Amino acid sequence: MADIKVIGVLGSGQMGLGIAQLAAVAGISVVLVDSSDSALQKGMQGIRSSLQRFVKKGELTQEAANDTLAKVKHTTSLKEMSSADVIIEAIVENEDVKKHLFSELDRIVKPHTILASNTSSISINRLASATRRPHQVIGMHFMNPPPIMKLVEIVRGSATADGVFATIKALAERFGKTVIRSQDYPGFIVNRILMPMINEVFYTLYTGVATKEDIDCGMKLGTSHPMGPLELADFIGLDVCLSIMKILHHGLGESKYSPCPLLVQYVDAGYLGRKSGKGVYSYHAPPNNGNP
Ligand code: NAI
Repeated sequence: MADIKVIGVLGSGQMGLGIAQLAAVAGISVVLVDSSDSALQKGMQGIRSSLQRFVKKGELTQEAANDTLAKVKHTTSLKEMSSADVIIEAIVENEDVKKHLFSELDRIVKPHTILASNTSSISINRLASATRRPHQVIGMHFMNPPPIMKLVEIVRGSATADGVFATIKALAERFGKTVIRSQDYPGFIVNRILMPMINEVFYTLYTGVATKEDIDCGMKLGTSHPMGPLELADFIGLDVCLSIMKILHHGLGESKYSPCPLLVQYVDAGYLGRKSGKGVYSYHAPPNNGNP
């Protein structure tokens, strides 16, 4: 594996903070960048709380937790990414915003730096096309929450170099993850299957087939899902679910992927799930980003 001394993580929302934590726990220095200072503060607090939970469980010493936290430098300045060997982007799931960022990063970072995206569904080829280094662009899709979930889905673009794939695979394994690889099609593997199911669950609720509680209970006890799908949608973020459905609908062109009007209505109302305190369910306690 190429020598990775510094990892840049872009976006300190629920995914970015978990990815930053994973990298720091693996002993790698992290630069965490977000355009919002309050998101950065919240992200750092999320990492701090998560590490403390590991200390309480006896899985980490206080000294190790302090050392880990000290490895994460946070800033709103994108230029600070210039020291990174690998960037893992985890900003909002919007193709235009991500492409703009990738083209800026391309100018700022070192020639050997790999640009990885945690996108749930956006084409890696399209993100790569915004740069002059398409062979160094790759999808590195973590599951939520990153410190706990064991999977990383790696997505190669048409130009991604073999060495870049090998480096990112080795990095994911250093984080303790199992890797699966996907071709660059909308939703890749996991969300191609999961999101239409979640969308169908919204249709089930929308058409009055059952209550949210009975739908979730049915899927938990009837199909051994650890979380009900509506609970899971709130956990992922309803805005993220809607963005992915739009990408599947647009990219695969079939009406079966059309987002359920009820999902659209929730997002329009600002009911984004746990992170906003309300989604399909209400969350009275302040959300902790689901991070352990
Ligand atoms: P989030 O909404 O919690 O966080 C996004 C963060 O990006 C925010 O803090 C925002 O301030 C920041 N941001 C937005 N535009 C920016 C820019 N131009 N420059 C710097 N920072 C910017 O989102 P979340 O859930 O963490 O998702 C992030 C990415 O990870 C998305 O691509 C999403 O599809 C993907 N993902 C999400 C999963 C989930 O369960 N929520 C699971 C796996 C992947």
